[in-house]
Amino acid sequence: MYNLLKGKRGIITGALDQNSIAWKVAEKAHEEGASFVLTNAPIAMRMGEINALAEKTGSQIIPADATSVDELTNLFTQSQEILGGKVDFVLHSIGMSVNIRKKIPYTESNYDYFMKGIDVSALSFHKMLAVAKKLDAINEGGSVVALTYMAAQRTYPFYTDMADIKAMLESIARSFGYHYGLEKKVRINTVSQSPTKTSAGTGIKGFGDFFDYADAIAPLGNADAESCADYCITLFSDLTRMVTMQNLFHDGGYSSTGVSDIVMKKMGLEE
Ligand SMILES: NC(=O)c1ccc[n+]([C@@H]2O[C@H](COP(=O)([O-])OP(=O)(O)OC[C@H]3O[C@@H](n4cnc5c(N)ncnc54)[C@H](O)[C@@H]3O)[C@@H](O)[C@H]2O)c1
Repeated sequence: MYNLLKGKRGIITGALDQNSIAWKVAEKAHEEGASFVLTNAPIAMRMGEINALAEKTGSQIIPADATSVDELTNLFTQSQEILGGKVDFVLHSIGMSVNIRKKIPYTESNYDYFMKGIDVSALSFHKMLAVAKKLDAINEGGSVVALTYMAAQRTYPFYTDMADIKAMLESIARSFGYHYGLEKKVRINTVSQSPTKTSAGTGIKGFGDFFDYADAIAPLGNADAESCADYCITLFSDLTRMVTMQNLFHDGGYSSTGVSDIVMKKMGLEE
């Protein structure tokens, strides 16, 4: 432990179960000395798994549907009361596409589902930031991180509408990062993570094969949820205080690799 977040307060969204990236972030943030509030959509808490995380990290839980400005306002207001002041970091770890869930091909996307996906997975980020800014709920130098995937830059057919939605999420980080940075020195970044075996990840058609493919391309292999959490912690810490409006790849080198020897061999292309 490095005490990187000693004395810092935060809000962590999206811890559904032990596989969730947000779950690992909460564990690491606790180890690094932070106090924080956990939140998720009320419906996602039915299983009650989040209670174990709250107990382990000494945190309180405030349910909030991230599409509701009212619920987000309550989240930021109550969090400041519970934690005893403004927050220093926020993790947006929220993603859901009904088109993916229902296995609808991209070219036949249902537009009501598409709009729902945009609202839950991208606009929720804007709403969160707008509420925080209006309430002046984040300290100067504070750090906000959202999780994204490289389908925002390159086509992955099975990622369907989430590709467009992640592109919007990353754009919001840049656009809001400008305004919030100028006014309050709050930094906003997205972390573009390797395929990871979580509820959201494994819900994608062909995920297992793709996971293996990405692992065979990346020189370091796929980055797991725990290492993603480590990276998020560095972004919440003061050591990265001049990093903002970036999309940061956390993928073992996958995004910079054209092809690997392993994949060449598998395709029988190498002598
Ligand atoms: N798993 C991967 O392969 C992968 C790769 C890159 C990026 N990501 C991103 O990481 C983030 C976290 O996903 P994960 O892989 O840990 O999966 P996960 O399923 O554990 O987390 C997704 C979370 O979003 C929450 N959520 C859904 N609708 C919500 C709403 N209306 N309000 C509040 N919360 C809501 C869910 O309850 C869940 O906790 C997502 O943004 C995802 O797109 C995942």
